[in-house]
Amino acid sequence: MELNYEFFYQWTTKNLKLNLDGYKETQLQRRIATSMKNAGAETLEEYADVIKANPEAKQKFLDYITINVTDFFRNKDIFEEFEEQLISELLPKFPSLKIWSAACSTGAEAYSIAMILAKHQVKLQNKILATDIDETILQKARVGVYNEYELKNLEYNLRDKYFQEKDGKYEVNKSIKHTVEFKRHDLISDDYPKNYHVIVCRNVMIYFKNEVKNDIYRKISDSLVPGGLYFAGATETIYNPTQYNLTKVTSFIYQKDA
Ligand SMILES: C[S@@+](CC[C@H](N)C(=O)[O-])C[C@H]1O[C@@H](n2cnc3c(N)ncnc32)[C@H](O)[C@@H]1O
Repeated sequence: MELNYEFFYQWTTKNLKLNLDGYKETQLQRRIATSMKNAGAETLEEYADVIKANPEAKQKFLDYITINVTDFFRNKDIFEEFEEQLISELLPKFPSLKIWSAACSTGAEAYSIAMILAKHQVKLQNKILATDIDETILQKARVGVYNEYELKNLEYNLRDKYFQEKDGKYEVNKSIKHTVEFKRHDLISDDYPKNYHVIVCRNVMIYFKNEVKNDIYRKISDSLVPGGLYFAGATETIYNPTQYNLTKVTSFIYQKDA
């Protein structure tokens, strides 16, 4: 059966404040069709009614579409490169930093960075800004409680140092939590904050159409100070980064030109 995606895109923009225009079509439509079937709906019009009437169905849809898989120190080797760049490149130039973790999901990425900063006693101008389009995931990030599986890649010494065990789960210590501020931000349609020394935006570009990606790289570059670093995902190489005034410094780290 032919599904009316145009209707559904307009409906999500109007009713869920979720503009799906910028996402890669084939992948997106497959996910919408699967989540529709999982909810027992036969058409997208019917599925829209289910989402409207049932908050749980709405959340399931958002979770499925926005794919918030994440991890602490995801791709550990790249985090090590980031730590190295932080020490060798950034700190000698900038005594206090502004850092933004965009599309941060449950906050694992922002808290991983906060632990690196704590290790090196890095001064921040503001709290680390951590943003995502999904309010529910941001609420989990603010609470900062994770199960054992979610911490599977976190070294035990960091878990012991920066987490408090509570009923088999682990809560991020206040000392780390207080260095991060979580806010909703849509990379496609919202304005970008400025003057950042580090922007981490990983494993989200893969969902966007090429023209949207170009626009986001340009805006990320505009949000960096000259010499600032953009930390990309492990499958998100930028082709011809100079078009965005960026220079590749390691496999997945780019520096804003002076
Ligand atoms: C796969 S997760 C990546 C999380 C983390 N950056 C990492 O690499 O582990 C993708 C995240 O992008 C968020 N996202 C999807 N579309 C977005 C948009 N338009 N603006 C901001 N965040 C978005 C999702 O809600 C999800 O949390």
